[in-house]
Amino acid sequence: MTEFLKEKTVFQRLPENVIPVHYEIMLEPNLEDFNFAGETNITIKVVESTSKIILNSLDLLIDEAKLEVEDGRVLIGNTTMYNESETAAIVFDTLIPKGNSILRLKFTGTLNSRLNGFYRAKYTIEGEVRHAACTQFEPTGARRCFPCWDEPNFKATFQFVLVVPKDKVALNNMPEVSSIEHPTNSSLRVVKFDTTPMMSTYITAVYVGEADFIESKTNSGVVVRVFTPKGEAETGRFSLDLAVKTLEFFDDYFKVPYPLPKADMIAISEYYGGAMENWGLVTFRETALLVDPVKTSVARKKRVASTVMHELAHMWFGNLVTMEWWTDLWLKEGFATFCSYLSGDKLLPSYEFINSMFSDCYGSAFHLDCLRSSHPIEVPVSSPNEIDEIFDEISYSKGSVLINMIHNFIGDEFFRNGMNMYLRKFAYKNSKTEDLWEALGEASSLPVKSVMSTWTRQMGFPLISVSIKQVGGVQKLEFSQERFIADGSKDENGLRWMVPITAVSEKSQTVPFATFLLDRSSEDIIIDSKVAEGWIKVNYGQLGFYRVKYSEELLKRLVPPLKSMTLPPLDRLGIVTDVDALVQAGKSSTVDLLELFWAYQSEDSYVVWSSICSGLSRLQNICEIMGYKKPMDSYTRKLLQKVLSMLGWNAVEGEKVTTGSFRARILLHAGLAGDKSVLEESRRRFKRHLDCVELIPADLRAAIYCIVMAFGDKETFETLKKLFNEESSSEERQRIGSAFGQARDESILHEVLEFSESEHVRKQESVLLLGAVASSQLGQQLAWNYYKEKHEDLVRKFPGAWHIGNVIQSFTSSFASEERAKEVEEFFSKHPAGVEMTVKQCVESIRLNAGWLTRDGESLKKYLDKYAE
Ligand code: BES
Ligand code: ZN
Repeated sequence: MTEFLKEKTVFQRLPENVIPVHYEIMLEPNLEDFNFAGETNITIKVVESTSKIILNSLDLLIDEAKLEVEDGRVLIGNTTMYNESETAAIVFDTLIPKGNSILRLKFTGTLNSRLNGFYRAKYTIEGEVRHAACTQFEPTGARRCFPCWDEPNFKATFQFVLVVPKDKVALNNMPEVSSIEHPTNSSLRVVKFDTTPMMSTYITAVYVGEADFIESKTNSGVVVRVFTPKGEAETGRFSLDLAVKTLEFFDDYFKVPYPLPKADMIAISEYYGGAMENWGLVTFRETALLVDPVKTSVARKKRVASTVMHELAHMWFGNLVTMEWWTDLWLKEGFATFCSYLSGDKLLPSYEFINSMFSDCYGSAFHLDCLRSSHPIEVPVSSPNEIDEIFDEISYSKGSVLINMIHNFIGDEFFRNGMNMYLRKFAYKNSKTEDLWEALGEASSLPVKSVMSTWTRQMGFPLISVSIKQVGGVQKLEFSQERFIADGSKDENGLRWMVPITAVSEKSQTVPFATFLLDRSSEDIIIDSKVAEGWIKVNYGQLGFYRVKYSEELLKRLVPPLKSMTLPPLDRLGIVTDVDALVQAGKSSTVDLLELFWAYQSEDSYVVWSSICSGLSRLQNICEIMGYKKPMDSYTRKLLQKVLSMLGWNAVEGEKVTTGSFRARILLHAGLAGDKSVLEESRRRFKRHLDCVELIPADLRAAIYCIVMAFGDKETFETLKKLFNEESSSEERQRIGSAFGQARDESILHEVLEFSESEHVRKQESVLLLGAVASSQLGQQLAWNYYKEKHEDLVRKFPGAWHIGNVIQSFTSSFASEERAKEVEEFFSKHPAGVEMTVKQCVESIRLNAGWLTRDGESLKKYLDKYAE
């Protein structure tokens, strides 16, 4: 008998008086009726005698619960479901004795369309709609597929059996061990898989559907396969080759072999995130795995590569060694992100992965962590929504940055040794953040734990102010630290970090003249008089996660080496991004930043320009609000002139692999700022593309679609929409969809919002379309009004924190007035969306923009007046 109880609960971890040891799980999905039947036999260990077993179960109907006790008795259980706490309690008439028993459960569930748990993914073949059954469990979806102890510390072994239509592919974490015809239904087959090693529930997975695959092997014999939509197996080639090399690389780097006999990767048509590291069966959205020789851009290939490497790094970090609880989520996410740059640098050097770590990870970590509403990297969480919300830039980007910092601090050799010790010690078990610090500390004999705790236990990061002064006959460099807060306010808690300071100078450009740990609020160091004469660059190579504020004098000295590009690219990037941040915090003026940008006119590095472009975009947003878009556009066009003519339109033989993305980024920026020649050429190329005279190279497509749409009309939109509807490549659909948002006509933008609801648009695409509409101020206002009207539908449509969090963020965070801040705050206090932290961050961003506008608006206008035409 099953009862459903609705109660308000505070989330609690499962009791540990009963623990799972081994699961046998049988699942029979029905791809026509969208439901499934299941059975699970769980070998449990009763640690303390009890008559009640509590485990997780959600949206399942448990029809039968029996317990087979060691002495052979079979007890019948009474099941009560607790929806709020996502648990089931199975109560028996008598006490269950200590020791092992087998819990036998029969249940049914729905193949849902939430992209979570056991779900159906829709796809179309020649106009015919079909479905695959697949799983997405992390963090708390396994309980929607089978009753289980769905917390990462309850590791157990699993053996899956799938009952599937004969002609369908059936996949699981482990290889198939047998496949036989169903005893009573000859259209079905029963597929049994091998038993897994000890693992957590959130990385188990199954797939039932159509797919083609290609296959290879690593040098140690691990079978690697990539599964693609039917007829497209070759689009998996790039990822397959990379996966083989990546597994070999990590085998060698960590000196711990990949523990499973196979590693499958599969692209799924409808997909919540980017990819998921199920052990031995990694799932991806199509754009994160498949590469088309004609349609895929280098930027996209790079994303595919980093996703593949990130997920494969999880096979060790996350899967073999797992965080004890979600509080330590960052351990695996930060680590896998760091690893993807580490292996990318070795395996695909021409993609310049290390450079992008600075624009990607450091950039986004700084961006979020300077807010008062940020959170420490180790964060207490309990409810599923809270857990969902910490899959954010703090866990990923700040996490990876901190690992990068410690890697650099102790050096590669000690780092590798420490990692190896850590992986061996905690293999098939769980760990906490400090276990990692202990291993790295032991390997290096350095105070890793005390240094790193200052970075993981408190939120934020320091601003290091640097000035030079003469005291008596000696020259001194003075360093001081305080928390950098986005609005420039003082941190009342007096936070301090242990900051690894490095500095180079004109006299010693590649070997730091100063390297030390700053752990006090300020410190002076005596410097050589020669060093004191020339330029001084702090945070050499930008490895440290801190901002630097130079005294006026020191900043001035840095301009010549910036212009001459004497400083390395990452240091040039560091200077401008630090000033940019100080401007937003009101510690430097916007006009100074616009002046500083001129020093970068002849800059030839993609990573530097990509940061400048991000800064320009934010300024353009502010100017759009002030009604000063035109002069800002004209400033932008002038600033980009040199780099634009340096890059031109066409690839030059022998140019760097990343130049295509660089060119596209600059063309897009100049084009959107109204550069006439860029616009004309974009239109010309678009027409030739449509007429099939000359296809636009993949690298340039996104930019050209955006530019023609921005200056296009209804007809342009209809043309793009037709392209979108007829296109099967997810990547191409994605770039066309993003271009829709460039429209500057209200009625088109309305249509895009409506189109996002169409059944021809995949769920993940509709998030993209909504975000695209909100990319301009006009679009953002429409999008926000739309959101307020559709709040409930949207929350229902996008369950979980991620999608709805993204939507809310793109719809609100670029507003720039106190009224909007209040409006957003009040709206969500009346209509919560389950993403309270994200909402707080949005409101804080709006207030920051408003503060910036009030502070610098007038001087900015005055400066830009000379660019008005
Ligand atoms: N473990 C995550 C998948 C995940 C993300 C599960 C959010 C639940 C919520 C996976 O390893 C991951 O990090 N995926 C990223 C891609 C990666 C390259 C950063 C994603 O899905 O965006
Ligand atoms: Zn991950």
